[in-house]
Amino acid sequence: MAKRIGVLISGRGSNLQALIDAARGGTLGGDIVVVVSNVETAPGLDRARSAGIPTVFRDHRGRHREDYDRDLEAVLVEHQVDLVCLAGYMRLLSPGFIQAFAGRVVNVHPSLLPAFPGLDAQRQAWSHGVKVSGATVHLVDEALDSGPIVLQEAVRVEDDDTPETLAARILEAEHRIYPKAVRLLLEGRCHIDDRRVIVSGNA
Ligand code: GRF
Repeated sequence: MAKRIGVLISGRGSNLQALIDAARGGTLGGDIVVVVSNVETAPGLDRARSAGIPTVFRDHRGRHREDYDRDLEAVLVEHQVDLVCLAGYMRLLSPGFIQAFAGRVVNVHPSLLPAFPGLDAQRQAWSHGVKVSGATVHLVDEALDSGPIVLQEAVRVEDDDTPETLAARILEAEHRIYPKAVRLLLEGRCHIDDRRVIVSGNA
């Protein structure tokens, strides 16, 4: 049976689009069965609708995190998802949610973790003056941007880069590695040794 993917977003949804395109091209290893947003006006919701994927909006405002996340969990369980992909989802997930989908939540982050976790990672890297930054796909655990790393791609920082030009090149790398990592996970080719993800066959 085809593997089922749920995607959580809060905004633009360009990584969601990369996943949609890979699914269409048959290289994602599964189908996106639902896209959930905590922001009603997230442009990513339109991308999902254009692709004929069911969308769900759940407003987080005024709700306790645990209560909200139980609601999210119910939506994802209802859609029988095998993997939860965070794609610009701008909220921390509660421990209960992470435990419910243990080892089955994955995120893309715009730096070479563990450098520059958190918000505005591209600007953090640029201001620090690093010569190489990049993109990371990692499993999500209970801490911020700290779970086992599935794939990374390095991006050179050029002398004439601005945070914006750097972010744009990192985003291209995100779009390359996120669908690949999802496929590796769904094909069961990632084995975790402590916190090292060992990929069988060629990534
Ligand atoms: C990406 O840079 C991703 O790494 C970060 O949030 C941004 C989301 O962009 N977690 P998009 O919504 O996928 O275009």
